[in-house]
Amino acid sequence: MANQSTPIIQLTNIGKNYGNFSALKGVNLTVRQGEVTCILGDNGAGKSTLISIIAGLHAHDEGTYAVDGQPVHFSSPREALDRGIATVYQTLAMVPLLSVWRNFFLGSELTRPVIGPFRRLDVDTMWANTDNELRRMGINLADLEQPVGTLSGGQRQVVAIARAIHFGARVLILDEPTAALGVTQSGIVLRYIAAAARQGIAVIFITHNPHHAYMVGHHFLVLQRGQVELDAPRSELSLDNLMFHMAGGAGLDVLEHELHGAPTPAPAVTKEGTAPPAAT
Ligand SMILES: Nc1ncnc2c1ncn2[C@@H]1O[C@H](COP(=O)(O)OP(=O)(O)OP(=O)(O)O)[C@@H](O)[C@H]1O
Ligand SMILES: [Mg+2]
Repeated sequence: MANQSTPIIQLTNIGKNYGNFSALKGVNLTVRQGEVTCILGDNGAGKSTLISIIAGLHAHDEGTYAVDGQPVHFSSPREALDRGIATVYQTLAMVPLLSVWRNFFLGSELTRPVIGPFRRLDVDTMWANTDNELRRMGINLADLEQPVGTLSGGQRQVVAIARAIHFGARVLILDEPTAALGVTQSGIVLRYIAAAARQGIAVIFITHNPHHAYMVGHHFLVLQRGQVELDAPRSELSLDNLMFHMAGGAGLDVLEHELHGAPTPAPAVTKEGTAPPAAT
């Protein structure tokens, strides 16, 4: 394995309960800089719960969460951000009608002094910094004055990621960044995820899509009902294997058999009273 230095994030035996319900149990995870760590799993597997702990949104109930080898107990996302742990949510915090560069600096606007105590927005510096950062990461937008709302979904994601990196992210948590995107747009985001990792960022990539994960991932964690079903580096895993684990191991075989195996019996009527689409 490449990097044996202290991992930037280390979760040991993490547990999280909602009342009597155990959303996470005994989860171990190591996140290293310069790697893409993929977190996969079915709906309700605990992915969002896990990243909300890493991001400082929820505190863990059991186990240890260490950043740079030091145990932490974040009580807000701000505290995580101060340690360089940034999250880009699918619902991006952007204003569609504002330009790309204004969105880039939204909430962190640069100003410069004018007369006396007055300051005004430092448009030139913000424009130039946005331009630099996007170019450095290989993103070429024709016009930084264009409203963010006119960018493609992939471009918007990428601008949000570039912004997080510019403001000091060492760990970048991406919650399903390709879920709503088509093939080309997903490609833009995946290429950018790979570029961020090459730059030394630790990327935590949450996705339902094993193909997307396998294209960029160095390390894969599959959750199932709050527990780790698989934790493996890319070198020990094929795409087929990853898909097998995502389907809950034997689950995929059952599905395969259902779809392509023995002749299907007459379609059953579901509880709701609708017959599933099946061959006549
Ligand atoms: N605030 C909460 N209170 C009670 N139960 C919760 C809460 N948040 C999540 N859960 C439960 O914890 C389990 C894990 O949820 P979580 O949102 O982490 O799953 P997920 O893997 O992100 O799913 P999805 O792919 O649908 O986003 C689910 O059974 C969910 O119903
Ligand atoms: Mg979720």
